[in-house]
Amino acid sequence: MEANLEALITENCLQKRVAELASEIGADLSGVEVPILVGVLKGCVYFLTDLSRALSFDHQIEFIQISTYSGQKSSSGIVQIRKDLDTNIEGRNVLIVEDIVDTGVTLAYLREWFVSRKPKSLRIVSLLSKTESRVVDVQVEYVGFEIPNEFVVGYGLDFGERYRNLPYIAILRETR
Ligand code: IMP
Ligand code: MG
Repeated sequence: MEANLEALITENCLQKRVAELASEIGADLSGVEVPILVGVLKGCVYFLTDLSRALSFDHQIEFIQISTYSGQKSSSGIVQIRKDLDTNIEGRNVLIVEDIVDTGVTLAYLREWFVSRKPKSLRIVSLLSKTESRVVDVQVEYVGFEIPNEFVVGYGLDFGERYRNLPYIAILRETR
């Protein structure tokens, strides 16, 4: 496949927004007992490491891995846990860190899954949101950027495991 990348969010914009999100999150979470950031692998990694370093309060980091997509551009709607949490979150303050909300199917599933483990509080931060393509209504407390309904890559987001390491977000268009 030949691909064409069109810059959508620059590295500078990403870093500025991450700092803003960190202070918004800090205003809500800095007083509470050691919060846990749970990153949803693998898309979250660049965002989570930047966000974590921008937070001024003590916190833990954990990861889960799920599968919905299998390298394709459209969601199957089936969510599976591939790597579970290594820690008990009952009674803990949890912040789920996700790269993007598209249809909302994944986060709606995850929200229920986390609630069933009885955290003391549960919040979600997603770097990106494609609000136009939402199918399931899911509560997301913090959103970095609302983006158009286009397939994007970079800063952790992939297409068939490629492009995660781009330092900015780009729209991916196939050319033939
Ligand atoms: P949802 O269940 O439709 O909300 O999809 C969420 C998941 O699909 C995200 O966590 C991403 O892994 C993936 N995804 C959705 N849109 C994109 C995109 O534009 N680029 C890369 N991955 C995407
Ligand atoms: Mg994801």
